[in-house]
Amino acid sequence: MNKEKIRWGILGTGNIAHKLADALKFVEGAELYAVGSRKVESARKFASEFGISKAYGSYEDAAKDKDVDVIYVATPHNLHLENTLMCLENGKHVLCEKPFGVNGNEVRQMISKAKEKNLFLMEALWSRFLPNILKTKEIIDSGEIGKVNLLTAYFSFKSIHGPEHRQFNKDLCGGSLLDIGIYNIFLSMFLLGKPKEIFSSAGFTKTEVDGSCSVTFKYDNEALAVTFSSFLADTPIIAEVHGENGKIFLEDKWFCPTNIRLTDSKGNEKLFNFDFKGNGYNYEADEVIKCIRAGKIQSDLMSWDASLELIDALDAIRKKCGLVYPKHDKP
Ligand SMILES: NC(=O)c1ccc[n+]([C@@H]2O[C@H](COP(=O)([O-])OP(=O)(O)OC[C@H]3O[C@@H](n4cnc5c(N)ncnc54)[C@H](OP(=O)(O)O)[C@@H]3O)[C@@H](O)[C@H]2O)c1
Repeated sequence: MNKEKIRWGILGTGNIAHKLADALKFVEGAELYAVGSRKVESARKFASEFGISKAYGSYEDAAKDKDVDVIYVATPHNLHLENTLMCLENGKHVLCEKPFGVNGNEVRQMISKAKEKNLFLMEALWSRFLPNILKTKEIIDSGEIGKVNLLTAYFSFKSIHGPEHRQFNKDLCGGSLLDIGIYNIFLSMFLLGKPKEIFSSAGFTKTEVDGSCSVTFKYDNEALAVTFSSFLADTPIIAEVHGENGKIFLEDKWFCPTNIRLTDSKGNEKLFNFDFKGNGYNYEADEVIKCIRAGKIQSDLMSWDASLELIDALDAIRKKCGLVYPKHDKP
């Protein structure tokens, strides 16, 4: 695609839709052109906030706009499959929020539709594109800290929301694992690969989703990744990677644009500060534009295989801890 501007549409007008709309200001060659909401008033309000040309009172109307090139799906988890398929059917490239689908079956349907329509599709796992996460991987892959035997990652905060909110609502596929634990799982797999064994346990809310979820990945006889997510407690949101010859510490809100510290076996410390651009969500959007311009239907960085490995691991974790979404999971 060699248009001067790639025109974006957004489905949903919630928290993350605002973040991406802000981020697009920092993305060269992007124009935020349309927004779709369940309510036209919400679409109009969002459009006026961001100077968007077209405001639609349904997701489908936004997807049918012939001038939209790519759509960002920013709706709750339970709608990702439906919304993505609908956008692809209408000839749009798609960037869909995490979790890509609720389970592997849904993600496979989405990928298969993108292939059929020859359209770009990517999971919006924004941390995958952040310089702090990329540097961490580069250090590990260089062998500088030696063999990694322990990774820890926490993502936990006390939610202010009630049982109806998407974080706790079973119909919207709430729970900490798919919402925030997914980042810990992504980090473990991005840095250390696929585990040999998976262990997990969950604490359930009255709404029958995981208020908290702990996951351990076993890589070999020695190496573990130990992670937890929770909506029930404020904890530091940090990650550490311990190798035989050093360790990397990812500072609080490790999944966001933040600093990392490398400590060698003698205790010498090196701090990495990054010259971050925008609010961080622009990095994934840059990749979308790059791929679409190059005529690619998937990203090499956040590939379909990477998304499949991630969702398959999440499915395995859910099986271990007994977390089911009956409207989505096949018996
Ligand atoms: N990448 C990240 O850092 C990040 C951060 C937060 C969330 N997320 C992901 O983004 C997605 C949306 O999260 P969010 O925090 O933006 O949620 P949110 O603030 O609740 O917004 C979700 C939006 O989806 C639409 N929606 C459609 N059906 C809905 C329903 N039954 N209940 C509530 N909203 C409904 C609404 O938009 P309309 O009313 O306009 O239709 C709503 O504003 C989730 O999949 C989440 O995992 C990603």
